[in-house]
Amino acid sequence: MRFISHAADLPTPTEFDWIANGLAFGGDYNPEQWPEEVWLEDMALMREAGVTTVSLGVFAWGLLEVADGVFEWDWLDRVMDLLAEHGIGAALATPTAAPPMWLMLAHPEIAPVTAEGVRHAPGGRLGWHPSSAVFRRFALRMVRAIAERYRDHPALRLWHVSNELGNENARSYDDETAEAWRRWLAERYGDIDAVNAAWGTAFWGHRYTGFEQVLPPRFSSTGANPGLLLDFERFTSDALLAHYEAERAVLREVTPTIPITTNFMVQREPGVADYARWAREVDLVANDHYTVGADPRRHAELAFSADRVRGMAGGRPWLLIEHAAAAVNWQRVNRAKTPGELRRNSLAHIARGADGAMFFQWRQSTAGAEQHHSAMLPHAGADSTIFRDVVRLGADLAALAPIRGSVVPTARVAILFDHDSAAALRSGRKPTELLTILDLPHAVHRLLTERGIAVDVLPGDAELDDYAVVVVPTQLLAPAGLAERLAAVVDRGGHVVVSFASGLVDETNRVIPGGYPGAFLALLGIRADEILPLLEGERLAIAPSGTASIWSERVELVDAEAVATIADGPLAGRPAATRRRVGDGTATYLAVRADDETLGALLADVLALAGVEPIADAEPGLEVVRRVGESGRFLFAINHADAPRAVRASGVDLLTGQRHDGTVSVPAGAVVVIEESA
Ligand code: GLA
Repeated sequence: MRFISHAADLPTPTEFDWIANGLAFGGDYNPEQWPEEVWLEDMALMREAGVTTVSLGVFAWGLLEVADGVFEWDWLDRVMDLLAEHGIGAALATPTAAPPMWLMLAHPEIAPVTAEGVRHAPGGRLGWHPSSAVFRRFALRMVRAIAERYRDHPALRLWHVSNELGNENARSYDDETAEAWRRWLAERYGDIDAVNAAWGTAFWGHRYTGFEQVLPPRFSSTGANPGLLLDFERFTSDALLAHYEAERAVLREVTPTIPITTNFMVQREPGVADYARWAREVDLVANDHYTVGADPRRHAELAFSADRVRGMAGGRPWLLIEHAAAAVNWQRVNRAKTPGELRRNSLAHIARGADGAMFFQWRQSTAGAEQHHSAMLPHAGADSTIFRDVVRLGADLAALAPIRGSVVPTARVAILFDHDSAAALRSGRKPTELLTILDLPHAVHRLLTERGIAVDVLPGDAELDDYAVVVVPTQLLAPAGLAERLAAVVDRGGHVVVSFASGLVDETNRVIPGGYPGAFLALLGIRADEILPLLEGERLAIAPSGTASIWSERVELVDAEAVATIADGPLAGRPAATRRRVGDGTATYLAVRADDETLGALLADVLALAGVEPIADAEPGLEVVRRVGESGRFLFAINHADAPRAVRASGVDLLTGQRHDGTVSVPAGAVVVIEESA
């Protein structure tokens, strides 16, 4: 067993006991919203559900520091004591996500300012920007106070730093941020001419003669410079991370043995935080994941996100610290989960490496902005379908305790999905707005996992030595050295698949000249001299079969053969997909967004060349994932179909205790976890 090698350069996490005895199970607990008599009922119901861990105090700053420097701990003391008495651990939050009203009113300058120059008003959450020195001072005083208060409390298991840093406070364009941004640039580039060169400021005569002239990308009549936009994304991520690090330094000093994390938001469209970098700074990677009810493929999105989190965690177990028991409250229509979906969602995260499943939140609020967001214990109370499902899930997680610490073994196939490419795609105007950063990575991941192929989703700088197949789907930005690392895969007989809209720009978001895709011309043995995006709804025919949408290019073969051809339109006869062979290795290029069937066939060809097999012999509709550890081999099979599906496996289903020899039939919508016999 070996972690993916990306982990090799991670710092050794502080030694700590896992936060729970088995898998972690629980949710955000906000007892401050309820009278004290409810707390005892909470404890009893948590015990009934098998709750091991709660995130506590996430938004409680205003109820703990009730006026400048005036602390009221009594209520939290009682809650911490109750948790300890009931054997429940606290992922205790530094409550900095919600500054108190008195602070916001006394120091309005801590609030973020929008690109249009509007300062956020108090009343929301994360109402501060990370470059605010005043905010930092108040926040760290609060962090020190709570750390000193509970440093020896038996309920304290994990520090939950703030909440979703960069969610509501993603970017700020205020003057204090502008100064921090200039300092960041000076540190990165040294002198202003290096900035001019990197961003190409000769365009529109935007040349700077000093750092003091550089502004954040505030609203203006046209789009800002793509290099500036991308650097501002990086600066913002670093500024948020610096806030996390400042809180961490205080916590480390006061409680050196308590692990520290902050909840990421790896789900759907990547936000401003470069989580692959942040992951190196947490003791335990923790993620929040919410499905979109209107998305018929939401379980596939979940699988991709969970694999991405595992990639960031270097293959180590991670924690699903928030998901929803049922509906959320922030979609247009907040669809309830379908029968069994809660269980499938939670166990799918566990299958893909999570060592716990937690929720937002424990008890559903009756007041406040999230009064219609679901919870483990709904408005209806314990006599409810949702709570019964939660109790059952708690029992499932208890039965799965033996898998804690096992890992999803390094796959033979990797998809690169890099934060910088996502940031580059939204930084400046591109050939088509129909290109979205997740479309092709999702499709590739889904088409592979539907075949039972294990896939690792890796950041762009990951080590690629272990992989037989590496897919680079619409990764616009080529980090320095990536082309060489991919060439090394091909040279050792591995297989690389690169798609359109990859390697078009370098790390400064400048186009790499000489033909497309500039970074990978030699690797792929092709050259395109023009991009011809397709209009919405427009499709090209591909020979021998299939269609293309969104993107096409005029590709010329240099040192490669065509494996599919465009069959109509102005590019008729030009390659749609190409392959360069180097000994036993291959480099395949996909120049169009082929339909899923065609894409699936192309991927199947590459898998065949590489000799990559499914991890289990399963019928279509079954999601299969294996975790392996010292305690055994565990095959998860999740049935997303509406009829039973079979998988070949022998062993005991940890969820039912049933023994299977040879074939396991998984009922529609059900999950089995087979502890496989040797
Ligand atoms: C995020 C936050 C929670 C809550 C949920 C609602 O994950 O961290 O506090 O607002 O969203 O889905």
